[in-house]
Amino acid sequence: MKLTKILCLVLAVLSLSLCFVACGNDEGKVLKMATNAYFQPYEYYDANNQIVGIDAEIAAAICEYLGYELEIIDMEFDSIITSIQEGSCDFGMAGMTVSPERLVDVDFTSSYATGVQVVIVKEGSAITSVDDLTDADYKIGVQLGTTGDIYATDDYGADRVVSYNNGNSAVLALIGGSVDCVILDNEPAKKLVEANPGLKILDTSYADEDYAICVQKGNSELLEDLNRALDALTKDGTIDAIVNKYIK
Ligand code: ARG
Repeated sequence: MKLTKILCLVLAVLSLSLCFVACGNDEGKVLKMATNAYFQPYEYYDANNQIVGIDAEIAAAICEYLGYELEIIDMEFDSIITSIQEGSCDFGMAGMTVSPERLVDVDFTSSYATGVQVVIVKEGSAITSVDDLTDADYKIGVQLGTTGDIYATDDYGADRVVSYNNGNSAVLALIGGSVDCVILDNEPAKKLVEANPGLKILDTSYADEDYAICVQKGNSELLEDLNRALDALTKDGTIDAIVNKYIK
C-alpha cells in the first residue's frame, strides 16, 4: 500500500515536470504571424478551413528553418501593423507592401515578392485605362488600409474611394454597381476575375510594389533571423517552388 502511494507520487511528480519542460519549451518556440486570410493566392482558407497560400507556406518554411513553431492569426488587414507594434504577434505577413509610411511604424525584411496594383472593371466599362480614373466622377472600390486605398485616396480624393473589408466584398460592390472599378493587387485580382464572369483587369497598371514581412520596430534579432531564413530559402529554391505552386 505504502509502496503504491510512493510510486503514484513519483509518477505524478515525473509527469508534472515532464509537462513543465515540454510547455516551457513550446512557449519560447512559437512565432505568431498576423495576416488577413482573404487574399488568394497569398493567404486564404482552403476547403478544410486551413489557412494556406504563398505566405502561409513561406512562413512555415522560415519557421522550420529557424526552429520555431508557426501560429497564424487571421485579423482585419488594418489591424496587422497594430498587432506587431503592440507585440501580440511577432511578424506580419500578408502580401504586405513596403511603404515609407509603414516604415515609420514597423521594420521590414528584404522583399520576397513583387506586387502590382491593378484596376478591375466590368467588361464594356467606359474605364479603359488608369488615366480614365481622373476624368470623371468614378467611384473606386478598395480594401481598407491597403496601399490601393492609400494611393487612390491621395490621387482621387476620399469621397471617390469606397473601402471594403476585403477584395471580395469590393468586387461584389463592383458587380452590384456601387463602385465603377476596384483597385487591388494583381494576383488576388486575377483570382477574383476568374471566379466572377463579366469582369476584366485593365492592361495598364496603377502601381508596382514590393512585398515583405514586418516586425516590431527595433526587433533586429528577429529581423536578422527572418532575413537569414529568406536568403537561404531563396538560394535553395524553396521560395520559387512555393510561388510556382500557386502562380502558374
Ligand atoms: N499589398 C497591399 C498592401 O500592402 C494589399 C495587401 C492586402 N493583404 C491581405 N492579406 N489582405 O497594402
